[in-house]
Amino acid sequence: MTKTLPFTKEQIETLAREHPTPFYVYDEAGIRARTRALSEAFSWNKGFKQHFAVKALPNPVILAAMREEGSGADCSSLPELSLADKAGIKGENIMFSGNDTPAEEFIEAKKRGAIINLDALEHLDYLEKHAGLPELLCFRYTPIGLKLGNAIIGNPKESKFGLTREQLFEGYRAAKEKGIKRFGLHTMPVSNELRVEYHLEAVRELFTVAKELEQVGITFEFINLGGGIGIPYRPEEKEFDLMAYANGVRELAREILGDSIPSLHMECGRYITGPFGYLVSRVRHVKQSYKNYVGLDASMANLMRPGMYGAYHHITILEKENMNDLRSRSLGTYDVVGSLCENNDKFAIDRRLPTIEPGDIVVIHDAGAHAHAMGFNYNGKLRSAEFLLRHAGASGGGGLPELKLIRRAETVDDYFATLKF
Ligand SMILES: Cc1ncc(COP(=O)(O)O)c(C=O)c1O
Repeated sequence: MTKTLPFTKEQIETLAREHPTPFYVYDEAGIRARTRALSEAFSWNKGFKQHFAVKALPNPVILAAMREEGSGADCSSLPELSLADKAGIKGENIMFSGNDTPAEEFIEAKKRGAIINLDALEHLDYLEKHAGLPELLCFRYTPIGLKLGNAIIGNPKESKFGLTREQLFEGYRAAKEKGIKRFGLHTMPVSNELRVEYHLEAVRELFTVAKELEQVGITFEFINLGGGIGIPYRPEEKEFDLMAYANGVRELAREILGDSIPSLHMECGRYITGPFGYLVSRVRHVKQSYKNYVGLDASMANLMRPGMYGAYHHITILEKENMNDLRSRSLGTYDVVGSLCENNDKFAIDRRLPTIEPGDIVVIHDAGAHAHAMGFNYNGKLRSAEFLLRHAGASGGGGLPELKLIRRAETVDDYFATLKF
């Protein structure tokens, strides 16, 4: 089974003449369409708002395209607040969800009029002391009813994030006593989860707690369901059933919250950009020892998900793959690796791929979220360039596509820029 690509080998070869591999390419039309699809699925909820999780793909050009489609931003640090600002996302269109947050970030978030989401009961006094209290306040809840947890988010009871159910009562009561009048409730219970039932289980718990919190004498202006919608990294996996989810949320809202359903917010990252990013790299060496190795000019420093979580990312060898029938090609079994001095620097292990030679162009799929953003400089590796594949006309329709540079590659000078000697 295969995955499709939004560009040709010629386009990539042309680009690679001026901008050496590795680099990332993002498909603007796909990102815009996903952002719209999410809002449309929740169009039954007046006030629905998606805040893109900036950490997933922190680039202001992409954030601005999302803003045009109605998206806000979910930020968790000062630079992320600035990225949102540069993209024209302002005020309550920004959700600020720090954890272990320093005073200066609370001050900045408050100054910008962002919605402040507290990760701890103890942060209420800290916020008041350092930034003053905002008009609107939110707490982050960690649901514990979930049966499973998964490899990325872990067991909810081991989570460093959020408040317990009991602490929520205390937190909202204290906030009310301090004079806060507008409230929201937030959770981020799952990560990369494709099962609709599992998301709905978390929503049921969240709505139930929201209803119980009415005892405190507050009304929620919004409930933020978080992100965590999964994407089918493996070609045989199915797309998340967004309509089933949105309809399921509606039913739960009616059942548990009754007539007064607040605005619902989400802060998806992966679901919006994950499938629309590609890491393009070239094969440097093919090596045979105990196994067959393909050495790329990209490494785990460019994309750490496989090394960090054992995550699967589909790989296409440009134009070596008959899209419909891999069996018609000669195949090999390879470990696809980078050049870090770490043995987990592997993009794929024992992967069946068309016979590979040095110089081949390799595309690693589903690298649009938590990918370039998680890059690092170990072994003196430099972070790669990013390009936006965009069609003429701002909203991605019609015309010849162009590849616009939206982040240049780091240079050795950048690497040395912070050193003092
Ligand atoms: C607070 C918060 N919101 C949203 C997200 C986005 O998650 P995802 O990309 O899985 O949708 C994250 C991811 O780490 C997060 O920490």
